[in-house]
Amino acid sequence: MSTETHIEEPALPAQGELYGYLAEYDTPGELVEAARKVRDAGYTDFDCYSPFPVHGIDPAMGIKRTILPLVIFGGGFSGALGGLLLQWYCNAHAWTWNISGKPTWSIPANIPIAYECAILLSVFTTFFGMWAFNKLPQVWHPLFRLDRFTRVTDDGFFLGIEARDRRFDADKTKTLLQEAGAIALEPCYYDPDPKTRMMPKWITAFIVASTAFALIPFAIAAKARNSHSAEPHWHIFPDMDFQPKAKSDTANDLFPDGRTNRGEIAGTVARGWLENDDVLYHGLENGQWTTGFPKTHRDGTPFVVDAKLLARGQSRFNIYCTPCHGYDGRGQGMIPERVKALGGVWQARNLVEAPQADGKGGVVIQMPNGQLFNTISNGYNTMQGYAAQIPADDRWAIVSYVRALERAQNASTDDVPADQKGAVQ
Ligand code: HEC
Repeated sequence: MSTETHIEEPALPAQGELYGYLAEYDTPGELVEAARKVRDAGYTDFDCYSPFPVHGIDPAMGIKRTILPLVIFGGGFSGALGGLLLQWYCNAHAWTWNISGKPTWSIPANIPIAYECAILLSVFTTFFGMWAFNKLPQVWHPLFRLDRFTRVTDDGFFLGIEARDRRFDADKTKTLLQEAGAIALEPCYYDPDPKTRMMPKWITAFIVASTAFALIPFAIAAKARNSHSAEPHWHIFPDMDFQPKAKSDTANDLFPDGRTNRGEIAGTVARGWLENDDVLYHGLENGQWTTGFPKTHRDGTPFVVDAKLLARGQSRFNIYCTPCHGYDGRGQGMIPERVKALGGVWQARNLVEAPQADGKGGVVIQMPNGQLFNTISNGYNTMQGYAAQIPADDRWAIVSYVRALERAQNASTDDVPADQKGAVQ
């Protein structure tokens, strides 16, 4: 540790205004001591510079605890609030959409996004708040003009007092710094050329360019919202949208007829798919809707209308038909009920309605079995066909069950066996 202080002549011509004094100290401990002395002497416009954070320097310099945490809390809080508001606006205000009867806005579902927004805004306030409070970015500083100061990133511990401090006095300040144990002391002057204090042009250009660049997505979104186009979308990342494969109903050079779809080869049938039983597969008998039932099942076993077939029909009916036609077949399933609750009308046919005296109504009761089978297979108006989901055998089981329902829903006391009539209330 040296005890002698060298006062050096400034390395650069001293034409500029005086910025302040820079004193060098040998160790972090001495720097802390010097900072305390400078603070006690009443200085406020001074700063310490060291290659690494020095413990205890903040209280020694009289720096108050940063308010950054409070600002970050504010940022995080507005993030959480903004996230909640955004979800409320999208889901409960601008575009309410009933999804399985769930509430359009409920706090538990909103927590993940509110949480993410809180984190995002806290991080942004931390990052940019730190820059702002430290007055960064500072691309230029008068101390950079001193060669000695370059060691601040290596092994130099410095204390600088600015000339603008109201206690600054060329002689007294110098003495104070020396008495505080400075191993070197030099004045620092502003560069006389004001241009050097300005932000380098390339940084300005970079900021302008990157800001303009960052606005491009917003411009694209604004354009997309205000224009209409029949052109296909741009695919910046096509992912697997385009593949070298042949899609149905497209052109194809591979075949002489230029079509991708290859029809069935004439005169051939896939094994097991002959389906040459008109009654079983189409409900037709001699070109008319059959009024009976098929003779055999698909596997060739005889078709018998018995309790087993009805039970099968009931289970299939309850799965496939009740949502619209209801368990009793009166056309009041959950779907029409729901439509009614929402204020609309969408009626499924009453399958068990009896014909009136003038012959009107009772459409399904009067319909031949073959036509009922065909309706199940291929649909009717707004009811879709079920051939793809329900095998032909089961469609016939449903026909038998619909017939049973029709009888059950229109039963009178005459249908009750004579020996059990007494039990009927
Ligand atoms: C998604 C709702 C829905 C389901 C499921 C549904 N249907 Fe229908 N069905 C309808 C509607 C709607 C009509 C009336 C269509 C019209 O009149 O335009 C209808 C009409 C009918 C008719 C009368 C056709 C005619 O010619 O008048 C029959 C028979 C029928 N359905 C039977 C069935 C059976 C059997 C099933 C089960 C395999 C079934 N439906 C499943 C909605 C449905």
